[in-house]
Amino acid sequence: MSADTKKDGLTREVLFDFHGVPMTTNFTDKWDKIQNFQAKPDDILIATYPKAGTTWVSYMLDLLYFGQEPSERETSVAIYDRVPFLERKGLSPGLIAPSLILYVGVDLANNLKTTPRIIKTHLPIQLLPKSFCEQNSKIVYVARNAKDNAVSYFHMDRMTLTQPDPGDWSCYIQRYMDGQVLYGSWYDHVNGWWKKKQTYPNLHYMFYEDMVEDTGRELDKLCSFLGLSPSAEQKKEILVGVQFDQMKKNNMVNYSKFVLMDFNVSTFMRKGKVGDWKTHFTVAQNEVFDEHYKTKMKDPTLQFRTEM
Ligand code: A3P
Repeated sequence: MSADTKKDGLTREVLFDFHGVPMTTNFTDKWDKIQNFQAKPDDILIATYPKAGTTWVSYMLDLLYFGQEPSERETSVAIYDRVPFLERKGLSPGLIAPSLILYVGVDLANNLKTTPRIIKTHLPIQLLPKSFCEQNSKIVYVARNAKDNAVSYFHMDRMTLTQPDPGDWSCYIQRYMDGQVLYGSWYDHVNGWWKKKQTYPNLHYMFYEDMVEDTGRELDKLCSFLGLSPSAEQKKEILVGVQFDQMKKNNMVNYSKFVLMDFNVSTFMRKGKVGDWKTHFTVAQNEVFDEHYKTKMKDPTLQFRTEM
């Protein structure tokens, strides 16, 4: 795949092999700093394969811990500044100009004034900085079925001007199956973290489909994992705030201020559905995908729903 200069002088990044995982320099440039990140016991890490519902759960956690009262945080700090993306390199949040300071999510996390720190990562388990497990930090992993995840990722790559060029859908779905997308194989990611859960009790593994089915039930499970007992009123408010339609119009969580995304191509809060893959996969693509899926997903204890 070749670099592809886009409008506004932004360059689409090129994938390269990074410890066996296709990555781009935007997420690996300050690797020593990322690997040496010092987690704290009360940190909460949200780990996901991209497009699994990271922002949804980030906002849920943010409201649980910091949303009790109306605050400037809720009205003027974007979710990606409240919940730093650990390994992401960027320019000063929200701005693009050559002279601006480069930061990495680790810097934002280290500067967070709030407790707990809520931090997000897309790293596969084998690349996670060691300190999270050494400190026994709480980890919330969110997984989404492979087909909807692929569709969502395709549109994200189309609209995010620094992501590797996704090409057309038929090429993309093949590369996704081959694990040749940023952060590598969906199959390895969800399985790797599922395996970690067996030995690391402080990991809560959630499914996007369960959240769509019954957000309240999943919020309750999350609270029980975190040891939180929000009031019925607080829960009600959170459940309203995290509804898809509410989040879609909330400029603090819908990425509308994030300059690297072209909302004329696609929106960040796109459809929020289970089963949207049916509008993208041809019958033949679906058959090939299902056959390939069987060869990759051997653990009968890890099951996904592709429709509801
Ligand atoms: P779609 O592209 O299928 O619409 P992430 O935050 O990990 O990048 O995931 C983004 C995906 O989660 C998008 O999926 C987005 O619409 C969906 N999403 C975000 N908030 C949601 C919500 N409240 N309810 C349902 N889906 C949501």
